Amino acid sequence: MTASPPTPPGPDDGISRRGLLGLAAVGGAGLVVGGAAGGALAASVAGAASGSGSTTRYDFYGGHQAGITTPAQDRLHFAAFDLADGATRDELASLLADWTDAAARMTQGLEVGETGAVDGSPYAPPEDTGEALGLPPSGLTITFGFGPTLFETAEGVDRFGLADRRPPALEPLPRFTGDALDPARSGGDLCVQACADDPQVAVHAIRNLSRIAFGRASLRWSQLGFGRTSSTSTSQVTPRNLFGFKDGTANLKAEEPAEVAEHVWVSSEQGPDWMVGGSYLVARRIRMIIESWDRVQLAEQEDLVGRTKGEGGPLSGGTEFAPIDLDATDADGTPAIAADAHVRLAHPDVNGGIRLLRRGYNFVDGNDELGRLDAGLFFLSFQNDPARFVTVQRSLARDGLNEYLRHVGSAVFAIPAGVPEGGSIGDALLA
Ligand code: HEM
Repeated sequence: MTASPPTPPGPDDGISRRGLLGLAAVGGAGLVVGGAAGGALAASVAGAASGSGSTTRYDFYGGHQAGITTPAQDRLHFAAFDLADGATRDELASLLADWTDAAARMTQGLEVGETGAVDGSPYAPPEDTGEALGLPPSGLTITFGFGPTLFETAEGVDRFGLADRRPPALEPLPRFTGDALDPARSGGDLCVQACADDPQVAVHAIRNLSRIAFGRASLRWSQLGFGRTSSTSTSQVTPRNLFGFKDGTANLKAEEPAEVAEHVWVSSEQGPDWMVGGSYLVARRIRMIIESWDRVQLAEQEDLVGRTKGEGGPLSGGTEFAPIDLDATDADGTPAIAADAHVRLAHPDVNGGIRLLRRGYNFVDGNDELGRLDAGLFFLSFQNDPARFVTVQRSLARDGLNEYLRHVGSAVFAIPAGVPEGGSIGDALLA
């Protein structure tokens, strides 16, 4: 875990108008934090310096991609892309190289391209769309992934000569009890997760990557998220989901490197080689029927979760971070944590020791025709084998919360390791 001292880009670094404005706004106190591993320190350093984290800059290049163990930022724009009909392997390679270059710049608070939003020819469309001009880096991380269909379509077509490169673990997810999936909100050849402390910075990232992809790939679906529903660092306060409960208490944290290595990063024994140091991302758009939930008594809400609503402590006793005692009983002998409580069924002890690194976000996308908010949790988890998610999700088939949940979107992606400076996110896969 490394943190560099503040290093405002010098004139030779291609500093942009946006970079200048951003640095001016923070008195030159921009902070650079080393890569994906820079997580916890980033939060504390940024918090100490600015109180908001908005001046934090995470390295784009490094051993692991940023945006996994990085302290979860407040905002998300997630996008799944499909390659264009007839796109070639060379076009895929050039797209990933162009995306890498743009992502490396945007995460440092720089504009896309050398001439950016306003310094190019007045007779050509600008290289950068401009809405992030003057905004600081805002802790932006951009994380890229490859879906199963990139390797082979559902019809078995190997468009890019990648079928034999597909990791055996990268299967489309099986169907789960209660799934009500919308194909238009599921799947995708490629994914981009943009997280930032400013929604405009996250949206700017996806919009510009989308524009760069024009003719080679197009958006299949995307999701905005506000209010993280997880902590990925012990330095963060546990946030709340739209059921009003603290979410992320028992999550894997960056400060547990041995556990992160065991559960999140693909090891050389697991392979394939090009995935070592990477991970797998599962995305589930989970609609929460909050109008029904809001009519449930407090004690029942707590029983369904298995934790208190205020403090977030387990119903087996203790404060928020007290270990859950699945064997504890009340005076009358009933289990303190109900048989269908969410935290019992998701707990490592009933799932062969599996832990997931959860990194989801709340969403509200307007309302449906019945006047109910289209609200929920955009669940994101990183693990070194999607089968781990499958095990936990199957255990949750008996979850009492299910009465108030509908899984409406689903996707899985291979997240390659990070790349050294000058490399492209597609290098290992396409080598
Ligand atoms: C909208 C849907 C969901 C809601 C509202 C929800 C809510 C919660 C809450 C309140 C907690 C307790 C606090 C914590 O330890 O983080 C929790 C824990 C957890 N949840 Fe969920 N969750 C949802 C979906 C899922 C899904 C889909 C999975 C995985 C398949 C999952 C896996 C877990 C795990 C592994 C824990 C920690 C259990 C432990 O070790 O104590 N959750 N969830």
